[in-house]
Amino acid sequence: MAGSTLGNIFKITTWGESHGKALGVVIDGCPAGLMLNENDIQLYLNRRKPGQSLISTPRKESDQVEILSGVFEGKTTGTPISLLVPNTSQKSSDYSEIASYYRPGHADYTFDAKYGFRDYTGGGRSSGRETIGRVAAGAVAAKILKEMGITITAYTKSIGPVEIDYANYNKENIYTTATCMPDAEADQKAIRYLQECMSNKDSCGGVVECIAKGIPAGIGDPVFEKLDANLGKAILSIGAVKAVEIGDGLLAAKSTGSVNNDAFVCENGQICKKTNHSGGVLGGISDGAQLVLRAYIKPTPSIFSSQETINKNKQNIEITIKGRHDPVIVPRAVVVVEAMTALTILDACMVNMTARLDYLTNFYHQ
Ligand SMILES: Cc1cc2nc3c(=O)[nH]c(=O)nc-3n(C[C@H](O)[C@H](O)[C@H](O)COP(=O)(O)O)c2cc1C
Repeated sequence: MAGSTLGNIFKITTWGESHGKALGVVIDGCPAGLMLNENDIQLYLNRRKPGQSLISTPRKESDQVEILSGVFEGKTTGTPISLLVPNTSQKSSDYSEIASYYRPGHADYTFDAKYGFRDYTGGGRSSGRETIGRVAAGAVAAKILKEMGITITAYTKSIGPVEIDYANYNKENIYTTATCMPDAEADQKAIRYLQECMSNKDSCGGVVECIAKGIPAGIGDPVFEKLDANLGKAILSIGAVKAVEIGDGLLAAKSTGSVNNDAFVCENGQICKKTNHSGGVLGGISDGAQLVLRAYIKPTPSIFSSQETINKNKQNIEITIKGRHDPVIVPRAVVVVEAMTALTILDACMVNMTARLDYLTNFYHQ
């Protein structure tokens, strides 16, 4: 299957199906010398695990990562890093009926239309479990970025109609609330809303916001390798993400030039901006301000109320989906958005090392 590889220099290939033996990722292009162990990656994987709260699927997966290659005596060697996570909670019987019909909102019909057949156990490659490889690779990228002074934080901005209040922002809450909201009050409201959705056998969507700090001005390339274009592709490649915003995003279309333009100022000899409507990118190149992006996520397509669809014989039928599904995808997608942002920024930083002759001559004249 084409399209499982991302990146120019820090290149990842995710592999595996939801209900196969294992899933994982191969990272090629990771520099030698990074201290790396399983725990660095496990901390990220634990944030996307199912079965962690009342508003999450009861499916329990241990999602334990194993480093198969590319690390020697605790340090990356510069060779491909292969990461494997075994599937330990396959329940393909939950999915046996799906072989004969197309679930609304899922990729069943499009996979059949494209390939002529599909792995119907849990969605195969279009399953949310494919994101395990992305998160594992993103953990490695985030560790390198941290050494470069760049940090990335994603959190839930809204679930259904419930939105966070920035006045209540507390970073710790992102890692302790069931919704991954930094606002504990909004978390409780969102949980009540989700319980309502669940009792109606329905689901809802929401928004993940992601902030990257410490990116110097000059990262990203003009034209086809714009930083915002590559971020858009990386985030839109996550299942269920339907839109991406950078900075003011959609609101910019309703704004005026005099409001939307960020005035440049010089503070202590440093060029910076008075505002950040651009979200940290101008002309596809980072402008030194913090990067702000939002991922808009659709409601979980698997709902437990009855739905109209057709079977493979083109007969109209009514179905009721079984299996284990969250009423909202957003909290589990938070770390996926963070990982995809880390992968894209790190790759752009690495590409940037060849942007100027002096970067090369400085190295070779040492
Ligand atoms: C982390 C994550 C977990 C997901 N979990 C579920 C789930 O439990 N049930 C479900 O119906 N869809 C889930 N999805 C969404 C489907 O994978 C996705 O909506 C489907 O493959 C159709 O793709 P599209 O929405 O991008 O068109 C999840 C997505 C992600 C990113």
